Order: sequence, then structure tokens, then C-alpha cells
Amino acid sequence: MTENDFVAPEEVSYPDSGTVAWKAPSNIALVKYWGKLPNQIPANPSISFTLDACATRTILEFQKLEKPGDQFSFEFFFEGKPKPDFIPKLNVFFERVAPYLPFLRQFHFKIDSLNSFPHSSGIASSASGMAALSLCLLEIERQLNPEMDALYFEQKSSFLARLGSGSACRSIAGDLIQWGKTPSIDKSTDLYGIRYPFEVHRDFKNYHDTILLVHKGQKMVSSTEGHGLMQGHPFAGQRFQQAHKNLERLQEVFGIGDLEEFIKIVESEALTLHAMMMTSQPYFVLMLPNTLEIIQRIWQFRKETGIPLCFTLDAGANVHVLYPQSVKERCIQFIQDELVAYCENGHYICDRIGQGARRMFPQPNT
Ligand code: PMV
Repeated sequence: MTENDFVAPEEVSYPDSGTVAWKAPSNIALVKYWGKLPNQIPANPSISFTLDACATRTILEFQKLEKPGDQFSFEFFFEGKPKPDFIPKLNVFFERVAPYLPFLRQFHFKIDSLNSFPHSSGIASSASGMAALSLCLLEIERQLNPEMDALYFEQKSSFLARLGSGSACRSIAGDLIQWGKTPSIDKSTDLYGIRYPFEVHRDFKNYHDTILLVHKGQKMVSSTEGHGLMQGHPFAGQRFQQAHKNLERLQEVFGIGDLEEFIKIVESEALTLHAMMMTSQPYFVLMLPNTLEIIQRIWQFRKETGIPLCFTLDAGANVHVLYPQSVKERCIQFIQDELVAYCENGHYICDRIGQGARRMFPQPNT
């Protein structure tokens, strides 16, 4: 597939108006994407668990414009209220996807979004938000072309979502999604996320992710700025190589269900991501004292009990605690007894691996 495969036919006639709705989940990277090239091309490959509970639901109403202009015509509502500060980001997104969705300038859109997770939880909603919007936009194209096959729909919606926010391309399908060209995975591509093509042991099919909300406020440095700082970063070359290597190592780990090796890779990836931040120019630190306190306690618990619980981090202070279904009860108990005290107002979110985005309207099979 190349970019050209995603250009929609121009000469079809679109309906005058309509409504579509999709719900897309968030995802948590195991091998992290950090650093990008122009056009939202990742500097290194990544892989993530698709989540289930943390998701964005978007309703998109569209109405044909009497006099289409050069500008995009849309309004954005978040949790029922107009949200003008999102308009510039959405304009950039529309500009980027317009070559692949030629109808965009012919309609007025009302975008209405809602997150399942608390608004100020410090959880980035760009992945699930951009994925849900991309799915809605592509749904309009599919209404004109009902034969569009499911794989093409999945690939193009991931491709569009990537143009909104890189990691959003891993929020379309489930349950383990890989993105970024890498020699060990034949079908891998920089253009969209693919379902992990190799065998995955059942232990990795029902993983849990309990998200400890250490800090719910705005991040000091955005991920866009952080990606930018990988340009000219003294350790960038080594880091990008390491990501390829870790994906290759994961192949056997997933195949045989090697939890010990999985933990080594995932925790090292999380700390490497933050090490890159701490060694950028300018340098910055997103972890907080409670982030480190939680990490220490996880290590201690694992050493004492042998239970395969581990952590990963996003570009923020919150901690994702990962563990398989078989040890769920013990892990939840440990989290409640020892870790919740380090969360802002004791808040955390219980999530688990999910199967990808779902269409809400028109309802499937109608
Ligand atoms: O998709 P972005 O531009 O918000 O970048 C996401 C970066 C990380 O969350 C830190 C890593 C990843 O692969 O999701």
C-alpha cells in the first residue's frame, strides 16, 4: 500500500446530510514511538495493547454546503459544550487528510465527542479522539462505496488517524497493534497500524492495565515538542535501533508466553522513553516523586511474590500497571493496599486489553 491507494474517488455524488458515530479506544505502547519525521512518519517502530474502557465516542453530523469555500466548515463540541481551543488542531488535521477525503470542503460538520475517562485525568485523549473522528469521516466515504472491504477500511482509518496523532493509528483495531516499518515484520509499514501478525500466547490475550493517576493536570511539555527534541538528540540513532531490536525480541516472548522477558522489555522501554526526555536539549522530566515511589514498590512486590506485574509509562507522570488475568486478584489487592496512596485523590482506572473501535451509528448489521 502507498499513500495513493488511500485517495478517494472524486466523481461520486454524496448524500446531502447524515449522521455517523464511532467509539474508539485508547492504547498503551509496549515499545514506544518517540521521534518523528515529516508527515507523521515514525522515527522508529512501536507496538501497543489496544485498551477497552478508556475510549472516545464521537458523533459526526454532516450537511452539504450550498456554497463550498476554501476553508473547512465545522464546529466542535466536547462533552456537549463548544470547545474552540481544539479548532486549530482540527484544522491541521482536516488539511492533512483532505487529499484522501475530497468531500471534506463540501460539507459542514458538527463533531460531538465524549471521553469515557475523566476529562482532566492526565490521560491523553488524542489517540482515541483522532481515531474516532477518522472512523466517522471514513464511514461517510463508505456510505457511497458500500463494497469497501473491511481490511481497506481498517487500514485507511488508521492511516487517517495517524495524520491526526501518530499513536492514534494504533487505536482502530485490537488487540495488539504494530506500527512502523521494521525488518522483522514483513507487512509492517510507516503508514498505518497492523494487527500483530505472529502467534501470541494466551497469557497475553487477557492482560490488564490499571492506570494510576499520579498527576491529573496538563503536562509541562507536549508530546509534539518531545518528538521534535529527538531530532539531533545525541542518543537518537541508538534508541531507534533498540526499538527495532525490542520488536524482534518480542516475537519469541509473545509466542512462548515468556512473562519474565516481556517485563524486561516493557519496563526498559518505559524508562528509555523518559531517559530520552531527560537527555534532550532542552531536557525535561515528566516523572514525579510518586511515579518513582510506585515503580520501587512494584519492583519490591515482584521480588517478594514472584507475581509477574510490571509497569509502563506514557509521556507523563501516570503509571500503567500491567498484569495477566491469572494474577488479577492479588494485583488489585496490592494496588489498593500499596499504590493508590500515591495517586492524586486516590484515583485510578481499571482497564484491560480490548478488541478495537466499534461503530455506534448506523448500528452494525442494520
Ligand atoms: O501520538 P503522539 O504524538 O501523542 O505520541 C505518543 C508517544 C507516546 O505515547 C509516548 C508513545 C507511544 O508510542 O504511544
